[in-house]
Amino acid sequence: MSNNLYRQKILILDFGSQYTQLIARRVRETKVYCEIHPFNMGLGKIKTFSPKGIILSGGPASVYDRDAPMAEGAVLELGVPVLGICYGMQFLTHLLGGTVARAVDREYGNATITIEDDKDLFHGLGKGAAETVWMSHGDRIDRVPKGFEVLARSKNSPVSAMVDRERKFFGVQFHPEVAHTPEGPKILRNFLFRVCSCKPSWTMTSFVRRTIRGLREKVGDGRVICGLSGGVDSSVTAVLLHKAIGKNLSCILVDNGLLRRGEAQEVMEIFRGYMSMGLHLVDASRHFMGHLKGVTDPEEKRKIIGREFISIFEKKARELGGAEFLAQGTLYPDVIESISFKGPSATIKSHHNVGGLPDVMKLTLVEPLRELFKDEVRQVGLELNLPRELVMRQPFPGPGLAVRILGELTGERLDILRSADVIVEEEIKKAGLYEKVWQSFAVLLPVRTVGVMGDERTYENVVAVRVVDSLDAMTADWSRVPYEVLGAISNRIINSVNGVNRVVYDISSKPPSTIEWE
Ligand code: XMP
Repeated sequence: MSNNLYRQKILILDFGSQYTQLIARRVRETKVYCEIHPFNMGLGKIKTFSPKGIILSGGPASVYDRDAPMAEGAVLELGVPVLGICYGMQFLTHLLGGTVARAVDREYGNATITIEDDKDLFHGLGKGAAETVWMSHGDRIDRVPKGFEVLARSKNSPVSAMVDRERKFFGVQFHPEVAHTPEGPKILRNFLFRVCSCKPSWTMTSFVRRTIRGLREKVGDGRVICGLSGGVDSSVTAVLLHKAIGKNLSCILVDNGLLRRGEAQEVMEIFRGYMSMGLHLVDASRHFMGHLKGVTDPEEKRKIIGREFISIFEKKARELGGAEFLAQGTLYPDVIESISFKGPSATIKSHHNVGGLPDVMKLTLVEPLRELFKDEVRQVGLELNLPRELVMRQPFPGPGLAVRILGELTGERLDILRSADVIVEEEIKKAGLYEKVWQSFAVLLPVRTVGVMGDERTYENVVAVRVVDSLDAMTADWSRVPYEVLGAISNRIINSVNGVNRVVYDISSKPPSTIEWE
């Protein structure tokens, strides 16, 4: 989709901060469109992008490092307002002739700043107000560049915020984008609306309209194939395409036999209402089970499932014949990861359900969600009238229950896990937690333990319950689920799922653990 579809845009230059994505989310929450690009984005590209304002992110470097990331100085000559955050502010200062000093002690955590000037960036906070902010920096500004004034101070940072009003350059030493800076959203809004004169025009209604138009332009009379998994990303992708090109879209749902109970049928039901013509279910459960027989190594399982998915999908697509395009539900975080220059996000690459498909099939990719964060995709789903249960579905891994059954997969073990999984989902929903946590599911362990039921000794399976909180799956913490809810899950599983006599709760965070067990 062309960038020029969105006129009110903010450019975020990424200097490698772990918070860069958060800046983007905060900006989008105000209904202003923004994109993240690497700090060294060329001037020509920036001009084409034509931002209403530029935010320079934080980053782990010091401007004195030999390989410190530096944006082109000419960025500051575009006549566009700039907000430097932490390293971004130090970069501004360094470039414009102020003094950045190595702090004796790194300042990390909550700090209090005093507002000295509340005309624009701090509008509404009040002159003299003391605000709690989140600091995370080694260097600090000792002398502002020529033309700048100090806007706020803290005990450890004589310059916590600064401005050059003539050029509309702002710098803040703290992080307005994190939740620990309570007035952060207000400060960002002031920059976007008061300083950059943005209008809140980025809404999902306008996204849907523009995207459908863009898809029609791109695809024309071409045929598009789309893999449907029942997850929110592929569902929204399919419905957008269906609205844009109608019967020229064919959706394929491959039932690999590793889905949750009744899932394939449920998805078919929902989509039949939308697109009765182009919906194809391939029941390949026996095929997958055959290939997975005797396999216990997690990576081998994943490889087999990925390979067989491609082969089945490709075969079905060939049968349907004549497509030039392949639709994929790629989201903005995946895009950022693949372009990110430095910083922690570059090193973690998650798994792709349809990795390899476009290459094998020689099809042109259509990725209508490339610009969206997950929560925005959900809003689009609701906008498109998809059922809420589908829109709010938790993420589910491509290899399905295979990575939640440790050891060999058998029909019987799949059955046990499915029954336990239903209970976890029901109880988590009943407790009102389903949409609050990132994921909640059961895992079947490859060990048996001794138990007692009635007067009988039992020797049966263990189910682990995993519930995690996360923003983006890159890091996660185990959810502090109330004991009563855990108790109810455990009781129901042990009492009603044959073959299980013990339930344990996983209290590991990611890193060093991962969310899935395999
Ligand atoms: P991990 O286990 O790596 O998972 O912490 C991070 C997130 O990714 C999901 N996941 C997958 N998603 N294909 C996917 O589309 C996969 O192969 C896959 N493996 C894990 C996982 O559920 C979690 O949300």
